[in-house]
Amino acid sequence: MEVIIRPDARSAVKLTARIIADDLKKKPDMVFGLATGRTMEAVYAELARLHKECGVDFSLAKSFNLDEYIGLAPENKNSYRYYMNYHLFNNVNIDLRNTHLPDGIAEDLDAEGPRYEQVIADAGGIDLQLLGIGCDGHIGFNEPLSSLASRTRQKALTPETYEQNSPLFDNPQDMPKRAFTMGVGTILDAKRIVMLVTGPEKAEILAKAVEGPVTSMISASALQLHPRVVIIADEDAAVKLEGKNYYRWIFQNEPEWEPYRSM
Ligand code: GLP
Repeated sequence: MEVIIRPDARSAVKLTARIIADDLKKKPDMVFGLATGRTMEAVYAELARLHKECGVDFSLAKSFNLDEYIGLAPENKNSYRYYMNYHLFNNVNIDLRNTHLPDGIAEDLDAEGPRYEQVIADAGGIDLQLLGIGCDGHIGFNEPLSSLASRTRQKALTPETYEQNSPLFDNPQDMPKRAFTMGVGTILDAKRIVMLVTGPEKAEILAKAVEGPVTSMISASALQLHPRVVIIADEDAAVKLEGKNYYRWIFQNEPEWEPYRSM
């Protein structure tokens, strides 16, 4: 795991988008794992800018989102399908047929997880998984006690997640209490993982996930088991990390990060 600390959210977002765009240039038929949430909105806006102004080409890319609310149709403004179309897919040249989310209104809820896993496998697996973190430490919607070996399935959301996400609904009580989510095991199968964390409200959970023990109580801590993870945090989110100085030293000295240091 590597942790990169940027001075503010804007530069953390720019670095995240640049890493995604650079990987896409190297492998135009990338399979992306994508995340939702407020943090990602700026990343998708930056990717749309890179597409328009710098010709970053999504025409051969495929994508799989982490999660979707159960009971929300794609047309519902609060569904993650709607979010993705609005924030990213409609603003870049990705083929919508190559964009996938769990089906929140699947007829057979038990079959939807295995179906989604199969479509991911048929695409050759995820090359780059983008992640945010929930205030309770979830990745996707893998709430506390999610098995570290879990696969895509239905999950009941915690009161903390309800509190965090329901203000995004016109009527907060309309937020579903269940969702489909890739499992922790599904996420750990990605070849590379980039997690973006910004804002002081994430500082405590970020420190636990990065520097605390691996525990199913904080599913983001499972990222410590993955061989190729980079966590990009702004100063506000990084404030409780004990190893800050070492992480900064790595970013300043590792040749891999040389092209990114002047951003
Ligand atoms: C939702 C998503 C998560 C995301 C989280 C963070 O709960 N299921 O994948 O990490 O939101 O949200 P925000 O960026 O709004 O803090």
